[in-house]
Amino acid sequence: MPSTSTSRATAARKSPAKKASPRTPDAVTLLRADHKKVADLFVQFEKSRSAAKKKSLVAQICLELTVHAQVEEEIFYPEVQAALKDMELIPEAKVEHQSIKDLIAAVQGVEPDGEDYDAKVKVMSEWVKHHVKEEQNEMFPKAKKSRLDLAELGERIQQRKEELLAAQHTAH
Ligand SMILES: [Fe+2]
Ligand SMILES: [Fe+2]
Repeated sequence: MPSTSTSRATAARKSPAKKASPRTPDAVTLLRADHKKVADLFVQFEKSRSAAKKKSLVAQICLELTVHAQVEEEIFYPEVQAALKDMELIPEAKVEHQSIKDLIAAVQGVEPDGEDYDAKVKVMSEWVKHHVKEEQNEMFPKAKKSRLDLAELGERIQQRKEELLAAQHTAH
C-alpha cells in the first residue's frame, strides 16, 4: 500500500541508526571525489611532455569522465530532477555532458600529435571545470537541502561505477 511505504520511509529517515554502509560515501561526497580526481589528472597532463604519458593520462581522464557522466545521468540527475522539480539545472547539465562527450570522442585513442591535441584537451578541461563548478555550487547544495537520501544514492552510484569500470577493463 502506498501509505504504508510512505510511513516506512519517514520512519527510516528519523531512525538514528544509519542504514547505509559507513564505507560508502554519500552521493555528493562521491561525485566531488570524482571531480577532484579528474582535475588532478588534467593538472598532470599540463605538466607532462612525453606523448606516451599524455596518451595514458587522456585515457584515464576519458574513462573517469565517461563513467562519472553515466552514473550521474542514470542515477543522480533523475533523482535530483524529481526531488527539486527542476526544469533548468539538469537539462543544462545534460547538454554540457554532451559537449564534453564530443570532446572525449575527439581525443580518445588518438595519438598526441602536438598543439591541436593539446588544445582539445585544454578545452575539455575548461568545459569540465565550468560544469563541475555549476554542479558543486548550485546542484549539490540544492540536492543536500532536498529530501533525497544521499547515503542510499551513494550506495547505488558506487555499485554502478564498479560495474561500469569492470566492463571497461574487460573491453580493453
Ligand atoms: Fe555532470
Ligand atoms: Fe559531476
